[in-house]
Amino acid sequence: MAMKGFLAATITVSAVVLLVILQIAEVEAGAKTKLGREKVSHLHFYFHDIVAGQNATAVQVASAPMTKSSPTGFGSVVVMDDCLTEGPEVTSKVVGRAQGIYVSSSQENFHLLMASTFVFESGKYNGSTLAMIGKNAALEEVREMPIVGGSGLFRLAQGYALARTHSIDSTTAVVEYNVTVLHY
Ligand SMILES: *[C@@H]1O[C@H](CO)[C@@H](O)[C@H](O)[C@H]1NC(C)=O
Ligand SMILES: *[C@@H]1O[C@H](CO)[C@@H](O)[C@H](O)[C@H]1NC(C)=O
Ligand SMILES: *[C@@H]1O[C@H](CO)[C@@H](O)[C@H](O)[C@H]1NC(C)=O
Repeated sequence: MAMKGFLAATITVSAVVLLVILQIAEVEAGAKTKLGREKVSHLHFYFHDIVAGQNATAVQVASAPMTKSSPTGFGSVVVMDDCLTEGPEVTSKVVGRAQGIYVSSSQENFHLLMASTFVFESGKYNGSTLAMIGKNAALEEVREMPIVGGSGLFRLAQGYALARTHSIDSTTAVVEYNVTVLHY
């Protein structure tokens, strides 16, 4: 009797497992047909980080007691809603925003942790986003940062961004970005 019960339970569990596997397979097949072909896209834009003045787009929200005395500003956390434009001039056509944070995360070097969403607002990418997270070695001529995901036309995106400072003064840094992404 106990054996029979065990057998029945095993069969029921197996049936449930089979059903779940079949359902997962169905979802996977459905996802495949909707994803389309993998492609590579290249994006080029300029990022405007304005840290002071009436049009500031980046604001320090936190620091540590040691941040002021640290040669690298260690512990500083800045929130940004920076404009992305087609050309380097601030009056150039806006293509999106870089929304997120940058954190001074090294005690020895000017390294920033960048955690930013590129929110596109024009052309075919309007409404699509890319997520960038990684180390920005701010003093290097060209910095590489990983693109770890995306939404909209950039679903399942992965790639990298190359950044180079175009100009910098006491309030504004303009940075040129080339972004290469694999997506569907
Ligand atoms: C702020 O932006 C406005 C509108 O674009 C512009 O007229 C003004 O000159 C800017 N102010 C500063 C301090 O850059
Ligand atoms: C981007 O999409 C939004 C929401 O659909 C729309 O309101 C806006 O006009 C679009 N912008 C451009 C430049 O197409
Ligand atoms: C971006 O690509 C353009 C065209 O290939 C190139 O001239 C420029 O130096 C690149 N900039 C960066 C930061 O990679």
